[in-house]
Amino acid sequence: MLKILRVDASARVEASVSRQLADSVIEAIKFNQRDVEVIKRDVGQNPPGFVSQDWIAAAFSKQRTQAQKELLRQSDQLIGEVRRADVILLSTPMYNYGMPASLKAWIDQVVRVNETFTFDLSRGDRPIEPTLSGKRVVALTSWGEFGFEAGGINEGGDNLVPHLRYVSRYLGVQDFHHIGVEYQEFGDVRYAQSKTAAFAAAQNLGAAIAKNT
Ligand SMILES: Cc1cc2nc3c(=O)[nH]c(=O)nc-3n(C[C@H](O)[C@H](O)[C@H](O)COP(=O)(O)O)c2cc1C
Repeated sequence: MLKILRVDASARVEASVSRQLADSVIEAIKFNQRDVEVIKRDVGQNPPGFVSQDWIAAAFSKQRTQAQKELLRQSDQLIGEVRRADVILLSTPMYNYGMPASLKAWIDQVVRVNETFTFDLSRGDRPIEPTLSGKRVVALTSWGEFGFEAGGINEGGDNLVPHLRYVSRYLGVQDFHHIGVEYQEFGDVRYAQSKTAAFAAAQNLGAAIAKNT
């Protein structure tokens, strides 16, 4: 049984390009492998809470009060979903050159001391060590603009994909994949071409994930 955690971050549901990319990957996985469980976490529709002073105190506490346990309940649930997954699909728009606040809130709930990482100063300059491993993380993005690659007109403006790539070590990443659509706001032939290429890549990636290649 292949377990997929699907996290959707777009505030849009109907016309969301990033959600459609996730649909496409899952469709291809299911087409190639029947035995699939999809765990859905829609942070775009239901954003997780933000971390607070009390949340941090609870996360670091060794002997938690009932109230502290309560405060971490959402985090416990979200971490449980990450633990169970073999594949984590993160479908997300770019909002203001980064990820939507809802997805950042999810990451802040999931990256937690003694759960998804341990902290030990005896390790020297790298005291933080992730506890999860062996997962595929797939970022499925949509940009309204374009040219975020080296040499492109928006070079340096992409704080979305590099952030997801870097932080995915706390999700137990072994392989990180990214598929993105550009030009959404232009709606022109470049958008159509970008979509065609991205959806073809989504189908290929879904088949590869199903075959574990
Ligand atoms: C609040 C907001 C902020 C946005 N900021 C950016 C941005 O900084 N750069 C960009 O390329 N597109 C930006 N866009 C356009 C979206 O990335 C684009 O519409 C994308 O297709 C949205 O994803 P979705 O189709 O999955 O909803 C923004 C859109 C919204 C609604």
